[in-house]
Amino acid sequence: METMNELITAFPQNITDALAIAAKVNLTTPENPVHNIVVCGMGGSGIGGKLVAQWVQNECPVPVLSFQDYHLPAFVGKNTLVIGSSYSGNTEETLIAVEEAHGRGAHIIGVTSGGLLEKFCSEKGYDCVIVPGGNPPRTAVGFSIVQLTSILIKLNLADEKLLGEIESGRKLILAELDGIHAEAKKIAEFLRGKVPAVYAGANYEAVAVRAKQQFNENSKELCWQHVIPEMNHNELVGWGGGDDRFGALFLQTGDLTMRNQRRFDISVELVSARTKNVYIAHAKGNTQIERSLYLIHLVDWASLYLSDLKDGDPIEIRVIDYLKDEMSKL
Ligand code: F6R
Repeated sequence: METMNELITAFPQNITDALAIAAKVNLTTPENPVHNIVVCGMGGSGIGGKLVAQWVQNECPVPVLSFQDYHLPAFVGKNTLVIGSSYSGNTEETLIAVEEAHGRGAHIIGVTSGGLLEKFCSEKGYDCVIVPGGNPPRTAVGFSIVQLTSILIKLNLADEKLLGEIESGRKLILAELDGIHAEAKKIAEFLRGKVPAVYAGANYEAVAVRAKQQFNENSKELCWQHVIPEMNHNELVGWGGGDDRFGALFLQTGDLTMRNQRRFDISVELVSARTKNVYIAHAKGNTQIERSLYLIHLVDWASLYLSDLKDGDPIEIRVIDYLKDEMSKL
């Protein structure tokens, strides 16, 4: 297995490889009109669905739900497109949700490197996009975001320009690589010995969740995330006592609406009055997708550098393996 350093380095190349895979995919047209979309996936596979749902929500004519559980909501039926995204293809929540979708007559598409999800799709005659396997699922986010976006484009549910924006995000990362590494090291130093709290505008919630997941899995740290404006209505009060155990990492994207930007600035001011541990990371890029990819790569590196500062093993996730093993005995 490659090192986490090599796997994070490969993110831009993964996007290129993923675009080549997507270009060759032919999809069956759904029998019924699609009235809603549910992307089922957990953890490192689920985050791709969360990201893409946010990227398409301003233009997609139907709602897109990123779903992380076994049993689907009641609205899922023959007018639902259900995408099962599981890197290993063996995640039980995703498999059970997809089987349930099959029972309700939904149009199903798999995204996986193989496993039981591929088997299920081939047995039942559903399209299944195969991505290269063998790595930790969280390092395959470049593959899932491209395949999910491409599926929605091919089914006329998203604009073709989105893949172009992913490609320009890839180029942006390569152009900004030195700056990304320098800032990621600073973020890791800042977070050393603290519990990170990641904040972003609501339209970047998936990016903040990605940051949390990477600090959890790569850095072995507890972490939480919240978004503006909702955090103004509750969490801000929680900073009231002032607390230096935590490090507030604000993701400044520069594209919030005027009122949300003002909320962001006031939130930084209020949190800064209660702790000295505030860091503002500025995204680069001209579109939401470019800025998201930039921030994803930045926090991926920050999570690895934080692990290095603690002499940790960024790859191992023994507790997840143990839990999956125990569950398989039921
Ligand atoms: C491991 C990771 C996990 C998995 C999750 C679901 O790197 O990030 O969050 O992604 O346990 O497994 P898959 O992705 O195989 O469906």
